[in-house]
Amino acid sequence: MDLIEYADSEAMMIDIAGTIAGELRQALSSQNAVSLAVPGGTTPAPIFDSLCGVDLDWARVNVMLTDERWVPEDSERSNGRLVRRHLLTDHAAAARFMPFYTGDATPEDGLDALESALAPHLPLSVCLLGMGADMHTASIFPGADRLQDALHGAAPLVPMRADGAPEPRITLSAAVLRDAMCRHIVITGDEKRAALERAQQLRPEEAPVAAVLRGATVHWARG
Ligand code: 6PG
Repeated sequence: MDLIEYADSEAMMIDIAGTIAGELRQALSSQNAVSLAVPGGTTPAPIFDSLCGVDLDWARVNVMLTDERWVPEDSERSNGRLVRRHLLTDHAAAARFMPFYTGDATPEDGLDALESALAPHLPLSVCLLGMGADMHTASIFPGADRLQDALHGAAPLVPMRADGAPEPRITLSAAVLRDAMCRHIVITGDEKRAALERAQQLRPEEAPVAAVLRGATVHWARG
């Protein structure tokens, strides 16, 4: 794992967007279509606001989430809504988006169709992840009902329910996240920095982010 520390988070967000743009451009130079997975939550919007203005061949970029809350896109909890508002605009409006929320009653109901739609986009070209102070990443939460499947299974997508998540989720599995050609984790604040340090000493069952740290670049700013 590489750790990059930034003096302030605004500079960090712009820098991460530039790095991801460069990686997408590089991937596009050798592949017809490339894939980008991004997190939801409260941290990444400024990265999306910067990345969407980059002039690259977005029509050949497939965007998806690392994980989704099982809520319709008109919910403020929807990660898809965040991506549509902040990333799929400006130049990036030309990108293709693969939403994970299908409108089915449960993530299990939507799973087969989602896995078929996902298969052509793997391995991911670029993956950006967030992390919670409880050391979850994507929707792979400590204590979650299908933690073992998400950490050790071969399935690319795993429905997930956890005490730390108010609604059912669907998440890319650790296998898919680890297979990404480029992997970044963005965190801010002292609490998450301390959690990252702790995670490096723990097993993925206790600290799921530990499953994806090897080979990742972690970007941190205090605030
Ligand atoms: C989600 C995310 C999740 C997120 C972390 C950090 O849907 O919640 O994809 O994995 O990255 O929970 O969230 P914050 O950026 O809000 O702290």
